[in-house]
Amino acid sequence: MINVKAAVFVGPELPLEIRELQIDSEPGPNEVLVRIAASGVCHSDLHALDGEWATPAPLVLGHEGAGVVVAVGSEVDDLEVDDHVILSWTPSCQKCEFCVSGRPVLCQLANETAYQHVFFDGRPRLRDGDQGVKSFLAVGSFGDHAMVPASAAIKIRKDAPLAQAALVGCAVTTGIGAVVNTARVEPGSTVLVVGCGGVGLNVVQGARLAGARQIIVADVSEEKLELGRRFGATHTVNSREVDLVSAVHELTDGRGVDYAFEAIGLPVTIEACYEATSRGGTTVVVGQVADGVKISIDPFVMSDQEKRLIGSNYGSSRQSIDFPRIIDLYLEGRVDLDSMVTARIPLEGVNEAFDEMRSGRGIRTVIEY
Ligand SMILES: NC(=O)c1ccc[n+]([C@@H]2O[C@H](COP(=O)([O-])OP(=O)(O)OC[C@H]3O[C@@H](n4cnc5c(N)ncnc54)[C@H](O)[C@@H]3O)[C@@H](O)[C@H]2O)c1
Ligand SMILES: [Zn+2]
Ligand SMILES: [Zn+2]
Repeated sequence: MINVKAAVFVGPELPLEIRELQIDSEPGPNEVLVRIAASGVCHSDLHALDGEWATPAPLVLGHEGAGVVVAVGSEVDDLEVDDHVILSWTPSCQKCEFCVSGRPVLCQLANETAYQHVFFDGRPRLRDGDQGVKSFLAVGSFGDHAMVPASAAIKIRKDAPLAQAALVGCAVTTGIGAVVNTARVEPGSTVLVVGCGGVGLNVVQGARLAGARQIIVADVSEEKLELGRRFGATHTVNSREVDLVSAVHELTDGRGVDYAFEAIGLPVTIEACYEATSRGGTTVVVGQVADGVKISIDPFVMSDQEKRLIGSNYGSSRQSIDFPRIIDLYLEGRVDLDSMVTARIPLEGVNEAFDEMRSGRGIRTVIEY
């Protein structure tokens, strides 16, 4: 048994509480114990904290983590103590129809367990005295240690700094993957990205990698639009000041874009993305809405103009392929992770990091343990 210092979600709109929890030091046969080195703070944590997503308490939030393996289960043969790993928030059973067909983000077992914040056996791994404490998406990276299914610990090279690597565990893979895996944007395409947060800026990087010829970014913050340019945008639209759909049509000679990515999670911007695409265009919903929210689109236009509306979960990633690949691209200077880390804090600063995110400042705050 070891102690884990963690930021615990105790209920919607209440500050996270820093507590000392307990975890078994012996992993189950197919698990690994990871000493977390760094965790990003993602808007999906904020959806839970603000009560926009029904989330059980007590629970350790955080799902964008990287660290070092400290103990390995008896049946794990591809990880060793001291391996550096990025954590995945979709552990995969590697047996269901989705896993076997190369879509581990849709894993049946993960949907029934990790998405309910418990492990494959239906139980939590952390305890606060007698009480079980769940781990967000079976990760819980707002704690200095985490037990995870072995399929959720992806080995990476040891020369990558773990603060930057942590971001590959959510925002970077989600954003780049939405472009290259989900939408498969072709070179020369025109792309719109709405929302320049941690996820949206990585959609921009993905569009640049894919060879898009025009990358229009929209946000309500001038600071974020400037960052959009730094990551590869060719045009910016301040959608607080001008009508987004008209601005995109003006920038594309009235045609609309080939691909529009929504990276906020608001019905109004999802609908605007759909309207800003050209005939035959594709809208990719990456941002995640609050529970129960619906959108409204014109299905006649959808059939008549062959418009496509698709969703992207975790960038349709296959984490064991995509994480090490993105780390290589970073270390070759082709993906920028350094500029993504706009603040580094101790765990105790986590509630202030959420205030920063609510105000729209910075890209990613990283907790370092
Ligand atoms: N699909 C997935 O797999 C996946 C994975 C991770 C995160 N997400 C979701 O992606 C979304 C973005 O996450 P993030 O961490 O980048 O958030 P973030 O808070 O860092 O960024 C949101 C951005 O949207 C901008 N914005 C807010 N309201 C706006 C409006 N009305 N018009 C234009 N811009 C506006 C903000 O200024 C900010 O730059 C969240 O909903 C999150 O839950 C989805
Ligand atoms: Zn996330
Ligand atoms: Zn599966």
